[in-house]
Amino acid sequence: MTLASEIDEPRASAREPVLSIRNISKGFGAVRALTDVELDVYAGEVVALVGDNGAGKSTLVKILAGVHSADHGTITFNGSPVSIPSPTASRELGIATVFQDLALCDNLDVVANLFLGRELGTGMINEELMEQRSWELLRQLSAKIPSVRIAVASLSGGQRQTVAIARSLIGEPQIVILDEPTAALGVAQTAEVLNLIERLRERGLGVILISHNMADVQAVADRVVVLRLGRNNGVFRTADVSYEDIVAAITGATDNPVSSRSAAHPTEKDAL
Ligand SMILES: Nc1ncnc2c1ncn2[C@@H]1O[C@H](COP(=O)(O)OP(=O)(O)OP(=O)(O)O)[C@@H](O)[C@H]1O
Ligand SMILES: [Mg+2]
Repeated sequence: MTLASEIDEPRASAREPVLSIRNISKGFGAVRALTDVELDVYAGEVVALVGDNGAGKSTLVKILAGVHSADHGTITFNGSPVSIPSPTASRELGIATVFQDLALCDNLDVVANLFLGRELGTGMINEELMEQRSWELLRQLSAKIPSVRIAVASLSGGQRQTVAIARSLIGEPQIVILDEPTAALGVAQTAEVLNLIERLRERGLGVILISHNMADVQAVADRVVVLRLGRNNGVFRTADVSYEDIVAAITGATDNPVSSRSAAHPTEKDAL
């Protein structure tokens, strides 16, 4: 099994990860959701977190988002050990989580959704300033939103995802976690969201992307972290790994996908 600590970070190996988790375990009664899981995320990289249903992805995300607390293990942020007892603590630390349901207010417009609970202005809400900031933010993300003054209900799935991601950036996070951001989207909208993920990486953010879609993972992720039955089952550089390797690690077709792949090559040659 290849663990996060055994694989070099692809872009700048001398740097420290922004987020580093070690030996994280979590049980729900008799169910062991996570056992001794580790994960590193560096600034300016996209890490895909993949695994079958029930592998523990959402549980790990909820621990980072301050929804659940781990039974044991350590979380290090910018080099210091931290605890994340609440969603507020997670946000204040610099972790933004976009959950699958997005939690947008359909009847409110884009500006209101972006600044919900964080309205700008002293004494009075400064609508003009918020509208200007909204456009700036969406422009930086190259987002295709027709108007910031239309109700979120009338936006497409991809545009709604964009608004949810843009909103997560208002707190200036260092890590953004996206739970299945393309699950409900069509081809063009998926491409838009993948583009947006690349913008986040360009901004120097660390992105954790949960996805069941290997095409999306291979399109944007720098590394792929596989969970299986609540344990790490491989960390790969996307450039070095095939679709089959990732699937093998997810399904447990082999416990050591990298060596089995290299071992498989001579056999293939022999067969020719
Ligand atoms: N609140 C909870 N109470 C009890 N068991 C839970 C709870 N949350 C998760 N589990 C269990 O923990 C395990 C991991 O679940 P988790 O939701 O983290 O998986 P997942 O990888 O996100 O799966 P999926 O791809 O289906 O979303 C599962 O066996 C699940 O039933
Ligand atoms: Mg899940």
